[in-house]
Amino acid sequence: MPIEDEETTLLIADIQPYCEGFSIDKKIGIGGQKEVFRGSNSEDIKVVIKLVKIDYFWFGNQTIMRDVDAEQRALREIELIKNYSSPYLPSLYSDEIDYVVINGFTYLKFIENYAGDESLHDMINARGSLDVATVTKMINHVTQALSLYASDGIVHRDIKPQNIVYNQEHDRFVLIDGGVHLSPMNGTLSVDVVGTRPFFSPEQANGKRRELDSRSDLFALGITAYCALARMHPFAVGVMSKEQFEYNRANAVYPKLSADEYGERIVAIIDRLLQKYPHARYRNPDALLLELNKEEE
Ligand SMILES: Nc1ncnc2c1ncn2[C@@H]1O[C@H](COP(=O)(O)OP(=O)(O)OP(=O)(O)O)[C@@H](O)[C@H]1O
Ligand SMILES: [Mg+2]
Repeated sequence: MPIEDEETTLLIADIQPYCEGFSIDKKIGIGGQKEVFRGSNSEDIKVVIKLVKIDYFWFGNQTIMRDVDAEQRALREIELIKNYSSPYLPSLYSDEIDYVVINGFTYLKFIENYAGDESLHDMINARGSLDVATVTKMINHVTQALSLYASDGIVHRDIKPQNIVYNQEHDRFVLIDGGVHLSPMNGTLSVDVVGTRPFFSPEQANGKRRELDSRSDLFALGITAYCALARMHPFAVGVMSKEQFEYNRANAVYPKLSADEYGERIVAIIDRLLQKYPHARYRNPDALLLELNKEEE
C-alpha cells in the first residue's frame, strides 16, 4: 500500500477503471470532502462522478481507519438529492453507490447529472463582479431551492459561491453539495459547527445548532450575493481565533452597497439578508421569493 502521502489526490487514470461506460475527461474539483470528475456516457450525456474518501490515517500514518462522519455525510447528501426534484437542485444519474479502494483507501462513489459548466465562484473569478440582473437571478433560483428544503425543516448550512453551479443552456443556477445539511429527521454529525466559515451566519458561527433554520441559509445567501455583486466580502475573514470570529460575525457591520451603483432594490434585499438577528431577515425563503416577484412586476 503506497501510504506515504495522505494529501495525494486522485487522478483521472486512478478512477477511470472504476467508471465503466463513462469516459472521464476532467477533474473539476477537490473540496473539503470530495474529489469531483466530469465524464460522459456513450451517448455523450455529461455526468459528474464524486468520490468521497471515507478512510483516514490513524496514529502516525500507520493504520487506515474508517471515517464514519465522512461516510455519513456522503450518504446524507445522496439521500437529500434523491428526495427532491427541482431544476434548482442536483439530481442523481443513477441510484448506484459504489465503494472503491484506490491506493489503499476506500472511497464512496456516486454519480450526479451534470448541473452546469461553471460554479458561481468560477464566474466571479473569470468575470469580476456580476451584474445586478445575474445576481438577482441567482438569489431567486437558490431561494427556490431553499424554499423546498425549508418546507421540510432542512437547513443546507453550506451556501457559498462554490456550491452554486450555473447552467448556461437553461440559464439557471443550481444549489449543490448538501453534505452538511441539517434535517429534523437525521441525527447530528460529530461536530455541530460545519459549513464554510467565511459564509457563516452569526448563529452558525457560535454553534447553536438547535437555533438554526432557513434564515441562517438566507444570511449565507446574502454574503454570497454581496460577494458576487461587489467582488468583496462584507465581513472580516482573515485569520482569527474562534472567539474573535464569533464576536466579529455577531457584531460586525459591513460596508453598505451603493444604491446609486446597484439600485435600491437589490441593496435593500441584501441588507435584509445580512441582518445579524434572524428575526430581522426574511421570515423564510418564500417571503424572499414574494419580494423578488414583486420586483419583477
Ligand atoms: N452536479 C454538478 N454539476 C456540475 N458541476 C459540479 C456538480 N457537482 C459539483 N460540481 C463542481 O465540483 C465542485 C466540487 O463539488 P462539491 O461541492 O460537491 O464537493 P466539495 O466542494 O468537495 O464539497 P465541500 O463543500 O465539502 O468542499 C463544485 O464547486 C462545482 O464546481
Ligand atoms: Mg462544495
